[in-house]
Amino acid sequence: MAERPVSTLNKPDVALEMTLRPSIFSDFTGQPKVKERLEIAVAAAKQRGEALDHILLNGPPGLGKTTLANILAKAMGANFKSTSGPTIEKAGDLAGLLTNLEEGDVLFIDEIHRLQKTIEEYLYPAMEDFKLDIIIDQGPNARSVRLNLPRFTLIGATTRSGLLTAPLLTRFAVRERLDYYVAEDLQKIVVRSARLLKVEIETEGAFEIARRSRGTPRIANNLLRRVRDYVQVKADGRITRDLADLALAMLEIDQNGLDEMDKRILETIITKFAGGPVGVNSLAVAVGEESDTLEEVYEPYLIMEGYLKRTAQGRVATELSYKKLGLKVVKGSQPSLF
Ligand SMILES: Nc1ncnc2c1ncn2[C@@H]1O[C@H](COP(=O)(O)OP(=O)(O)OP(=O)(O)O)[C@@H](O)[C@H]1O
Ligand SMILES: [Mg+2]
Repeated sequence: MAERPVSTLNKPDVALEMTLRPSIFSDFTGQPKVKERLEIAVAAAKQRGEALDHILLNGPPGLGKTTLANILAKAMGANFKSTSGPTIEKAGDLAGLLTNLEEGDVLFIDEIHRLQKTIEEYLYPAMEDFKLDIIIDQGPNARSVRLNLPRFTLIGATTRSGLLTAPLLTRFAVRERLDYYVAEDLQKIVVRSARLLKVEIETEGAFEIARRSRGTPRIANNLLRRVRDYVQVKADGRITRDLADLALAMLEIDQNGLDEMDKRILETIITKFAGGPVGVNSLAVAVGEESDTLEEVYEPYLIMEGYLKRTAQGRVATELSYKKLGLKVVKGSQPSLF
């Protein structure tokens, strides 16, 4: 199956993420409430000598779901086995994964909302009773065998918890949602990453990158690398606020961190759909993007920042969007330039 499309800026770079990904709670910046609750869950499970409860991590791409899953396994001193919803094609694939687990292991299922429903049903008894019912043989000899599984921890990650069925959702004792990061936390992440990448950076330079990163650590790290290239070629390699600003302007990252696609979405709603409301599918066709990607990647940030509203009739551009694009709200007609 094709990989879920992500914004070019929010594309994972596997090698980079391995270098910069924090592996312990104290290096994981931001999300203080989520972090505290998870740290308590780990401490309590360790005190009892039990496996961690099953955990669901939900939130837009690049906010740290995979990172947290790794941190949790490491903090528990558990093995980390990783898979993803779309790669589990048959019940046998899942049975293979589950029967190879050891006591306390963490099984990480990324994009768990894309797990097939028939396979999901095998997970229910596995999560609840640590049992797996498998059918062996075929035809008249077919029979169901119940296997005992070790007490393992399932960590599921999803960008769309709304697509999870109620039976699956309720089997996660711990459910956490990651939100966009505030600029101050992203600044700390940029400073840490710069240190690991051996890039010289001034605090104001780090803040400039941070506040234009769409609240997303992955984007902050990607922008840091692009800005590093710029200062290396155009200056002496040290990232100052002014150089960061010039580099980001060159990359067409605007003052509020909106990228090309964000702007195209707002512009389309305003100029092609008279400001909305417009349904997500029509909007997706008009901007040339998958509607899933619009909903998972772009809209949450635009809504949080107040550029977009989701109504029962569809998406509506707010006054802030008109302002951003230098357009005037003209009731009942197409907008015009100031
Ligand atoms: N709280 C954090 N502190 C420091 N770095 C972070 C934090 N969260 C994420 N990062 C950085 O951002 C990168 C992306 O995070 P991660 O891969 O965990 O996101 P994700 O939520 O799993 O995204 P996706 O939905 O695309 O899989 C990590 O490799 C790490 O370098
Ligand atoms: Mg991930």
